[in-house]
Amino acid sequence: MEGDISLQLPAGQLAPSEALRAKHEAARDDFAEAVLSGLARERRSIPCRFFYDAVGSELFEEITKLEEYYPTRAETALLETHRAEIARMVGAGRVLIEFGSGSSRKTSLLIGALAKVSAYIPIDIAAESLREAAGWLSEQHEGLPILPLIADFTKTRDLPKAAQRRRKLGFFSGSTIGNLSHAEADAFLANAARLLGKGSAFLLGVDLKKPVSILIPAYNDRRGVTAAFNLNLLARINRELDGDFDLTRFAHDAVYNEAEGRIEMCLVSLSDQTVRVQGRAFTFAEGERIHTENSHKYTVAEFQALARASGWRPVRAWTDPDRLFSLHLLRL
Ligand code: AVI
Repeated sequence: MEGDISLQLPAGQLAPSEALRAKHEAARDDFAEAVLSGLARERRSIPCRFFYDAVGSELFEEITKLEEYYPTRAETALLETHRAEIARMVGAGRVLIEFGSGSSRKTSLLIGALAKVSAYIPIDIAAESLREAAGWLSEQHEGLPILPLIADFTKTRDLPKAAQRRRKLGFFSGSTIGNLSHAEADAFLANAARLLGKGSAFLLGVDLKKPVSILIPAYNDRRGVTAAFNLNLLARINRELDGDFDLTRFAHDAVYNEAEGRIEMCLVSLSDQTVRVQGRAFTFAEGERIHTENSHKYTVAEFQALARASGWRPVRAWTDPDRLFSLHLLRL
């Protein structure tokens, strides 16, 4: 998203409607610009951050419960197994800052394990998810100050005053870092270092490299939930940008790019066809692809090298016995 359009959303309160309206308009323009320019490219693509409208966020929640989609289960198990050690290493009284918090499901586990969290700042572009998460977390953790921030977590420039001059713990779960390119991940980690500051700690969940026999079903499940999640991008274009994609004439696909170490998701045109978006025509040949997402996988050593390059010091990495997923603790 262009520029920093972050907006502090006081827990339990509506943000001023004027500010929210301006934010919605900026988000709509951003979506239109990304779709029109992405479809006009020779290698067509739409950035994966646009998956998460209300329908897409619900479908993603469903994905996390699928038998084939191991990351959420594996990460939750790692947090449960190692929470006492994590709490000991992190120490008490930190301000917890979560990047791309979404539903904040795993965060409750972390907040419960840490000795005392002095405030929780979830950062997410989805105002509705933030409001819901703040609601149920404040019920579970009475007295915890929750200061939601509506913002693109890759571009957040400032934290609320409550976080200043306090030791912080960053949390970036679910291997969302894998959805960034290596250069973007590097820039994100460098920005997080600047935001969190000296003396901070950072806990990240990172998906591990593994056989394609496990990876492919995780991104192409039998029930077709991932396919529906991917196709919802076209449905969203129809809903919001006056598009006329025929969803029966595109198919979901997921392949593993061994050289890049990533799952690549795309939508494949099932016939020669012309589609209109905001009055602009885009012609597709049968078999032509729209790239929609990369999901990078890292070995522990590869991720630690990435973290070091942006100034972080890896202090501990936990993995499960099946080597599905990793949790990293970094310090600054
Ligand atoms: C959010 N992100 C880490 C998910 C992933 O595994 O890359 C998004 C996803 N795409 C398809 N399934 C899940």
